[in-house]
Amino acid sequence: MENRIKDILREAQSLIGACNDETSLTDARNRYLSKKAELMGLFGQMKDVAPDRRASLGQLINNARQEIDALINAKKAELDASKLAKRYQDEKIDITLPGSSEEPGVRNPFYIVKDEMVAIFTALGYQVVEGPEVESDHYNFELLNIPKDHPARDMQDTFYIDPVTLLRTHTSPVQARTMAQASGTPIRMICPGKVYRRDDDDMTHSHQFAQIEGLLIDKDINLGHLQATLDLFVRKLFGEKRSIRFRSSYFPFTEPSVEVDVSCMECGGKGCAMCKGTGWIEILGAGMVHPHVLEMSGYDPNVWSGFAFGVGIERVAMLRYGIDDIRRFYQNDIRFIKQFMKG
Ligand code: FA5
Repeated sequence: MENRIKDILREAQSLIGACNDETSLTDARNRYLSKKAELMGLFGQMKDVAPDRRASLGQLINNARQEIDALINAKKAELDASKLAKRYQDEKIDITLPGSSEEPGVRNPFYIVKDEMVAIFTALGYQVVEGPEVESDHYNFELLNIPKDHPARDMQDTFYIDPVTLLRTHTSPVQARTMAQASGTPIRMICPGKVYRRDDDDMTHSHQFAQIEGLLIDKDINLGHLQATLDLFVRKLFGEKRSIRFRSSYFPFTEPSVEVDVSCMECGGKGCAMCKGTGWIEILGAGMVHPHVLEMSGYDPNVWSGFAFGVGIERVAMLRYGIDDIRRFYQNDIRFIKQFMKG
């Protein structure tokens, strides 16, 4: 029996030593220490042992049992420790990595400038109105004195939904829509909105961009009112030192028509690369509402007069912030937007 006890102990030592997970260790515990274990069965065989050897044999079995128990516990501690070590390794935190923090949102410079422009005009009593981007040929061209076959249509080709429905090429159709609604009463309105043209995209042109239209209709309105209004607008937007100049131009729906230039914000008017040496930068088109346009929309040109203007929002934002390429507004590059943190 002594030999068998020694064999069981040796076998248990090597088996427990080879255990590498909890399941095999539990199997080993059942095999050597459960009630049905061979070692336990030896106690039952004591009755066949000579009485004088019983105590020492019993002691031997007990010692073997305790040793196996200790081996299993030690193995369990070893497995637990390596399991924990693996978990520490897997869940290791690199404290040198930058933390993740919530950053405040930033407004696109397009909207910063648009809201500023709208605020300037609403402070002057202008109402903000909207018009459809999918527009009829009638409002986009006809009512603006641009009949079919008029050469001005060539400069504003666009996306057609059907032969008489198109994506508006400017915000000017909202002039005609507002006049139709106001039916012969004074108007002071601005209309910010998207417009579309068959223009090739480059640094200063996009096939989709935004304008703000302005229209004022009342009695005895003249070019001086337009000049004073735009002068104030430009100085509020670009600073008190800026001035404007009118250059004679042509739009079918205004007469006279002007292109409005602002004195260069980079060189103050001396001439530099930004203003191409002229000292001036063009920012918008404007003019006195053409008598025929007034008439078509129900305003008697002998009683009413008015001015209108249309300014490109992106172009103004580019000048305001020194942005070199109009496409940056639409590319969703967070590095670009972030530069306007302080708005
Ligand atoms: C017009 O669109 C006229 N409707 C403006 C107007 C309104 C004149 C009322 C008189 C009375 P124009 O095509 O020049 O005009 O465009 C006006 C502004 O839109 C330009 O000064 C420019 O700032 C901007 N713009 C024109 N084309 C583009 C383009 N492809 N991409 C970005 N901005 C543009």
